[in-house]
Amino acid sequence: MVDVSKVQDIVQRHGCRREHIIAILLECQDEFSYLPREVIEEVAAEIDTPLNSVLSVATFFRAFSLKPVGKHQVHVCMGTACNISGGPRLLEALERELKIKRGETTPDLQFSLDTVNCVGCCGLAPVLTIGQDVHGKLKQSQIPRIVKKYRPKEASDAQTVH
Ligand code: FES
Repeated sequence: MVDVSKVQDIVQRHGCRREHIIAILLECQDEFSYLPREVIEEVAAEIDTPLNSVLSVATFFRAFSLKPVGKHQVHVCMGTACNISGGPRLLEALERELKIKRGETTPDLQFSLDTVNCVGCCGLAPVLTIGQDVHGKLKQSQIPRIVKKYRPKEASDAQTVH
């Protein structure tokens, strides 16, 4: 359940002005980790703008997500250097380890998985990022250990029992 008073506070800080819609939506996304439908509806009402207009902004910019995203956002680099040195194999290993496909989020909202085109560390290829952390020169076999570092403690203990 979304606390709409938080949305109202955010909109108030921006002066209830529709020209601040992007800043408002960015702050809402920071607050809720994504943009639930109720948030978009509340923003539309607060800035007196048709729902469809707010929705089209939220769907146009890649910075916004209308689906829940994981606490840890995993991005596998598919830029040229990473692609030829094993990026696709890292993605396969992550899909296996996290049991989700690219573009999806784990049911416990711990991890989201996606690809990116070059993160500027081509010398470390193949590279993946988890949040702000960069992991380079990786092999498929290292993926379970890396993922384990980011799992909640209980979950990672439970995994080792199986
Ligand atoms: S191609 Fe992957 S970091 Fe540049």
